[in-house]
Parts: sequence; C-alpha cells; structure tokens
Amino acid sequence: MRASSLRVVRTPDELRAACDGARARGERVGFVPTMGALHEGHLALVHEASRRSGFVVASIFVNPTQFGPTEDFARYPRDLGADCKKLEGSVDVVFAPEQGAMYPGGDETRVRVTETAAHLCGRFRPVHFEGVCTVVAKLFGLVGSCTAVFGRKDYQQLAVIRRLVRDLFLPVEVIGHPIVREPDGLALSSRHAYLSAEERARALCLARGLSAAVAAFEAGELDAAAVRARARAEVERGADRVDYVEVADADRVVPLEDGAKIEGRALVAIACHVGKTRLIDNVVLGEDPAPLGLIA
Ligand code: PAF
Repeated sequence: MRASSLRVVRTPDELRAACDGARARGERVGFVPTMGALHEGHLALVHEASRRSGFVVASIFVNPTQFGPTEDFARYPRDLGADCKKLEGSVDVVFAPEQGAMYPGGDETRVRVTETAAHLCGRFRPVHFEGVCTVVAKLFGLVGSCTAVFGRKDYQQLAVIRRLVRDLFLPVEVIGHPIVREPDGLALSSRHAYLSAEERARALCLARGLSAAVAAFEAGELDAAAVRARARAEVERGADRVDYVEVADADRVVPLEDGAKIEGRALVAIACHVGKTRLIDNVVLGEDPAPLGLIA
C-alpha cells in the first residue's frame, strides 16, 4: 500500500517532472501503460510494478492511432474516476492526457516494427501495432528509465514492444506478466463490457481452443498444423467469425508452416469475434497450463 495519495497529471511535462523527481530521490520508476477500463488483470500489472519499483506510474489513454477506422475507438469504455479509485493506494501518479497532449497539431512521427508485427493481429489490424509503438515510444520518452509491465494476453504486443525497446536502445526493462483469468478460464479483458450473457458464455471457446491445443501437445502431438486444427475446431463452435488460430514461433511470433514440428515451445494464439466483440487469447505450449484443464 502506497502512503502518498494518488496524483493525476495531465501534461507530458508534469509526467516527466514526476518521474525525474522520483529518480532524483533514488527511486526506481515502475510503469504500467493502459487504456483504462481497468480490471483485475491491470491491477496485477500494477502490483508487479510496485513489487519491483519505489515509484509507480500508470497511464490511462485510449490511443486513437492504434484503432482502425471500423474499430471500437469511439465506444471503448472510459471512466477516469472509477479507474483512479481502483488505483488509489497502489500507484503514485496516474498520467491521463488529452488526445491533443499526446498528438499535438503537426505531429508527424510514427514508429513501426516490421516482422514481429507483421503476422497474427498485424494481418487483421494493419494500423494497430504502428499506433501502439508510436504511443508507447512517446510514453517511454516521457517516463524515462523504468521497469514497464505489460500483460501476456497481448502476447504479440509484448513481443513487438520488446523489439522496439531493443532496437531503439530505450532505457526500459520490459516485464511480461502472466494472463489473469476468470475462475472459468476466460482471460480478463476490458472488452468484456461489450458482451451479453449469451456471448460471454460463447467467449469460452477461446479458452477451450487453447486447452485442446495444450492437451494435444501434452499427449505428444508435435505437428503444428494438427495442434492448430484441434484448437480451431473448438473456437469455431463458439465464435461468429475467426480471424486466426495460429501456432507460431514464440519469440519471433511468426506462424509455423504446415509440416513444421513444434520444437521445445510454441505460441498458440487466437483472435475471433463473438457478436461484435473481437477477443484474443494465447498459451505458450511447453510453459503454460491449459486455461480449462486438459480437454481429452
Ligand atoms: O495494451 C494496451 O492497453 C495498449 O495497447 C497500450 C500498451 C496501453 C498502448 O496504448
């Protein structure tokens, strides 16, 4: 529990000054970037940042550049007051900028990671990772040297950000935090606010698909296409539309081709639509347990 009360800052200069001040006092800065609509998954990231650092910052900014023209930017849930209540006692500073503060008029710079961002979500959301990299690079520029914590539910995002930090020599230690799930296996997401009860039940097809993949792998199936087919069959039972079910290299996030064998570990990643809501989830075979226990 942090002693000081939560301070909300709105401008880049205030954020930079707060972080510089903490470092000048000898504190490590922990940073959790978010788009708000906070749930237990975000709070786990904050807890991890707090465990690792003396001074914790969370940003809340629904970043327009990472949404495509037909995506849910306008209806993305926004409630700064409720989010700040959830963070009270756990973070020192919340950075909640207006759009014009992050993208002032005349702003021209965009940041693009190539191969790691090209597959999976990159194929279906062509502007997404460029928007994420741009805003995260801006945030890292303001926060400065820090430990930044991201959730592994956005596995490809985490891999892309690791690549960004490495390629641009940014003074940021990136930590990936395990996925937080509901008791029934559904991975927590701010977008669950969009689901009806019937859709919420069908959304379990992602956890079922991943569990089927883990079961096949643990039973000795190493053929990537066979594992993918097992997962896809479960996803298709619940989803209205499947963007992808992929088995991919867990470091490069490049899909394994038909005929490839899984060596050691591999990412199984799913993106599908339930009603109007796009959901993602993943496991790393050889590391993560099945979200639902094993499906035979
Ligand atoms: O994961 C998210 O919430 C967003 O993509 C991030 C990293 C805060 C950038 O807007």
